[in-house]
Amino acid sequence: MLDAYLMEWGGMLLRWLHVITAIAWIGSSFFFIHLDASLRPAADIPPGEGGRAWQVHGGGFYEMRKYMVAPAVMPAELTWHKWQSYWTWISGFFLLVWVYYAQSELYLIDPAVMALSPLAAGAIGIAALALGWLFYDFLCKSPLGRNDVVLGLLGFGYVVAASWAFASVFSGRGALIHTGALMATIMTANVFFNIMPGQRKVIAALTAGEKPDPKYGKAAKQRSTHNNYITLPVLFLMLSNHYPVTYANSAVIPVLVALIIVAGALIRHFYNLRHADHAKSPWWCWGVAILALWLAFWLAMASSPGGRERLGLSPPATAKPVLLAGMALPPVEVSTIVSGRCAMCHAPEPSWPGIQIAPKGVLLHEPEFIATHARAIKVQAVMTHAMPPNNLSGMTPDERRLLAAWLGSTR
Ligand code: HEC
Repeated sequence: MLDAYLMEWGGMLLRWLHVITAIAWIGSSFFFIHLDASLRPAADIPPGEGGRAWQVHGGGFYEMRKYMVAPAVMPAELTWHKWQSYWTWISGFFLLVWVYYAQSELYLIDPAVMALSPLAAGAIGIAALALGWLFYDFLCKSPLGRNDVVLGLLGFGYVVAASWAFASVFSGRGALIHTGALMATIMTANVFFNIMPGQRKVIAALTAGEKPDPKYGKAAKQRSTHNNYITLPVLFLMLSNHYPVTYANSAVIPVLVALIIVAGALIRHFYNLRHADHAKSPWWCWGVAILALWLAFWLAMASSPGGRERLGLSPPATAKPVLLAGMALPPVEVSTIVSGRCAMCHAPEPSWPGIQIAPKGVLLHEPEFIATHARAIKVQAVMTHAMPPNNLSGMTPDERRLLAAWLGSTR
C-alpha cells in the first residue's frame, strides 16, 4: 500500500510545484502585457522606440521604461524572465508522467476508445508533444507565417484537429489534458527556442557595440502574442480533468476545445485592447465569449450520458466498462458493501437527495465499475476515510477491513 500513498503524495507535491511556477509565469506574462499596453511616449525616447509608464505597488512608485529594440548601451545588471516558464513545463511534464503515464490504466487508456498498452500510450503522448511543437514551429516559419491572421487561424485549426486526434486514441480526460499540454509545450518552446535565443543575439550585438537587428524582436513578438492568446484556454484544459462534465463525451471534444479557445482568446483580446485605451474596450468580446461558453455548456450536457437522459434523448448509459487484462471482478461481499454504501451517490441515477449525477463521474453500482475504480476506492475509502463523505452512509470499520483485504490483492 506504500506505493499508493507515494503516488498520491507525489502527485500532490508535483501539482503544488506546477501551480506555483505557473502562477509566477502567467503572472509575469500578464504583467508585461499590461505594461506594454500602458506605455506612453517619453520625452527622451524617440517615438516608436519605446515609452514610459508609472505604477504604484507595495508602498512605492515605479517608473518603467521600455527600449525597442534595445537601450544604447548594455545595462550592468539584467533580470531575465525564463525560469518561470521552464519550470512550469518541467513540473507539468513530470506531473503528466506521474499521473497519466505511470497510472495510465486509470486515467489515460480507455479500452472502449483504443486498447493501448501503457508503454504505447505514454510513447504516443510524448511523441505528440514533440512533433506537435515541430509542426507549429514549421507553420510559423513558413510563408504562411508572414500573415498574422492566417497564421492564427491555421494554429486554431491545428489545435482543434490535434484534440480530435487525441480523443481518438485516449480517454476523454486524457485527450483534454494532452491538448492543453501540447499548447503549453508550444508556449514554453516559444520561450526556449525562439524568444530567448533572439534576445541573446540582441545582447551579443549590443556588447559588441553593434546595432541589434530588429527582426529578432519581431519574431519574438509574434510568438509572445500566440502565448498571450492561448493562456486562458490552456488553463481551462489543465483544470478540465477535475470536472468529468467537460470530457463525458469524446465525440464532442474537438468542438468543445474550439469553443473554449474562442472564449479564452476573446477575453484576453478584450484586456489587451482595454489596457491600451479604456475608451476602446471591445465589449463585444465578452458577448461572443459568453455565447461560446454557453454553447460549450449545452453541447457537453446534451451529449453526456446523464444529460441525454434528462433531455429525454436516450435511455441511461448502461454500457459496462471493458476490463483490462489482469483485472478481476471483486468478490460478492465487496460488491455488496460498495453498492450498499457508495452507489446511492455513485450510480447513473443517484438516489441520494441533492445528487443528480454521479460525483466526479465515478460509477460504483456494478462489479465491473468497482473493479475499474479499485485504485480510487483504495485512496478514498481505505487509505483515507474521505468517502463516504462524513461517513454519511454509515460504513463500518469491518466493511473497510474487507475492502482493504480485497484491495491488497489487486493492483
Ligand atoms: C453521499 C454521497 C456519496 C457517497 C455515499 C459516496 N460518495 Fe464518493 N463522492 C461523493 C462526492 C460529492 C464526490 C466529489 C467530491 C469532490 O468534489 O471532491 C465523490 C467523489 C468520489 C471519488 C472521486 C474522488 C476524486 O477526487 O477523484 C471516488 C473515487 C469516490 N467518491 C468513491 C466513493 C466510494 C468508494 C464510496 C463508498 C465507500 C463513496 N464514494 C460514497 C459523494 C458520495
